[in-house]
Amino acid sequence: MSDVASLGLAPLEARDLSMTYMGGDGTPIEVLKGVSLSLAKGEAVAITGASGAGKSTLLHLLGALDRPTGGAVFVGGRDVSRLEEDELAAVRNRHIGFVFQFHHLLREFTALENVMMPALLAGLGFDEAGRGARTLLGEVGLSAREAHKPRQLSGGEQQRVAVARALVNDPLVLLADEPSGNLDTHTGERLHDLLFGLRAQRDLSMVLVTHNADLAGRADNILRLQEGRLQPGTRV
Ligand SMILES: Nc1ncnc2c1ncn2[C@@H]1O[C@H](COP(=O)(O)OP(=O)(O)OP(=O)(O)O)[C@@H](O)[C@H]1O
Ligand SMILES: [Mg+2]
Repeated sequence: MSDVASLGLAPLEARDLSMTYMGGDGTPIEVLKGVSLSLAKGEAVAITGASGAGKSTLLHLLGALDRPTGGAVFVGGRDVSRLEEDELAAVRNRHIGFVFQFHHLLREFTALENVMMPALLAGLGFDEAGRGARTLLGEVGLSAREAHKPRQLSGGEQQRVAVARALVNDPLVLLADEPSGNLDTHTGERLHDLLFGLRAQRDLSMVLVTHNADLAGRADNILRLQEGRLQPGTRV
């Protein structure tokens, strides 16, 4: 996949995605009605929209956590919509990094072990995974917290561990769903500094779902999800 940029393939592309859920009473809910998006290498796109507009749904589809009702998602030029579950899991693990509003760290494991996990799942040996995880924990400024369990970390530190974990396999794309939604303004802005610093270093592509004006304002492009479609958004 390191050839992706040289081949001119977008790290991530969505073509005409639709998503219809079945409501509790059996009524279909058409959440996405034809969403297309192409992300260039190193590009950061912010997605805004009202609660219930379908932002998390879209991010789950882009990250191959869920399958669309219609349309296709291409990761590094590869159509993931038709992959078997085990192949899909491998694409997610290797090429997509996720950061959620709540860190989703494994509570019984230390910060270091949490960051190592995706590398171990990708088949790296223990020593190599440990080296990679230590480097990333250093990059997010948490070398001194390697042995801490999630409950022994502050909210901002938990999110930084989550960022380190998301990047340990050097993904093509980082997807973040309200990454600072649970943090105070100052801590949130430090997390944004970190994300954009890492983006600059690694030429990382990012899709950031956010209501946060500071985070959206740093993106190259802001899109608004409304009535199931992406429209140009505005900086606030
Ligand atoms: N698994 C599901 N089954 C049925 N309906 C769902 C499911 N997941 C989401 N929905 C519905 O789809 C719509 C979009 O949900 P989604 O979580 O994508 O919104 P969102 O834009 O992320 O909102 P928020 O800003 O509140 O996080 C909502 O109306 C929600 O109730
Ligand atoms: Mg959401």
